Amino acid sequence: MLKSARIAVFVSGGGTNLQALLDAQRDGKIPHGEIALVISSQACAYALERAEKANVPAHTVPSSLIQHDFEAAIELLLEQYKIDVIVLAGFLSILSENFTKKWPRRILNIHPSLIPSFCGRGMYGLKVHEAALARGVKVTGATVHFVNEIPDGGEIILQKAVEIEEGDTPETLQRRVMEQAEWILLPQAAEIMPSMVCIIHFPPVWRKFFAYVKQKQYNFTLYDGMIIHRHTHRVNNKLNDSAK
Ligand code: GAR
Repeated sequence: MLKSARIAVFVSGGGTNLQALLDAQRDGKIPHGEIALVISSQACAYALERAEKANVPAHTVPSSLIQHDFEAAIELLLEQYKIDVIVLAGFLSILSENFTKKWPRRILNIHPSLIPSFCGRGMYGLKVHEAALARGVKVTGATVHFVNEIPDGGEIILQKAVEIEEGDTPETLQRRVMEQAEWILLPQAAEIMPSMVCIIHFPPVWRKFFAYVKQKQYNFTLYDGMIIHRHTHRVNNKLNDSAK
């Protein structure tokens, strides 16, 4: 049966981007996805209250845990809630390669600058806007990208530019970037990502069949009783070969 993708949103703070996602879902703007879980790396994050108000299950996995335990606890929750795709919405912990490689093109992140400017390890929140103002750029913005093992290094999905104004402070600039870019881009990307993978639940007999197909080198990903079909070069090559 074709189903909408179950989305987990990872947060660490105020959660205005989470709110933009929840509002978009309420308004029917994410028809291919369903926000099924919120995970916060901070127990005091206001984002947890936003999730509670929207009746979305929310859990804290403290970033004070060592990386292995932190990611193991997150993985347990993802399994428990049968999550298909992940959205990092102001999530300020860095996920290891061990974690990100299990979710290829299925984790996206919002960053408050035009990548590749003002990004990477140590560049988050207000620091990004401080750096943009210190450099004297006239335009900044926000970027949504897939997450891989390089901080802010994954494939770019969407970007939106925002003008810097005379007299801007990091706080005024942060607010404008959120209003004019982040809260618009993130819900759009949260709809694009699930629609990029076709997620279908299959009974065990079909899973066996697809395990066989996978063995034969077609590029299907079997995931928790589901099959995710990706249009890749390998499939295209096979099609080209058979057309010859
Ligand atoms: C947002 O500006 C987000 O882009 C940024 O943190 C803020 C979180 O605000 N994320 C990063 O800097 C990631 N590198 P929010 O909790 O109100 O959504």
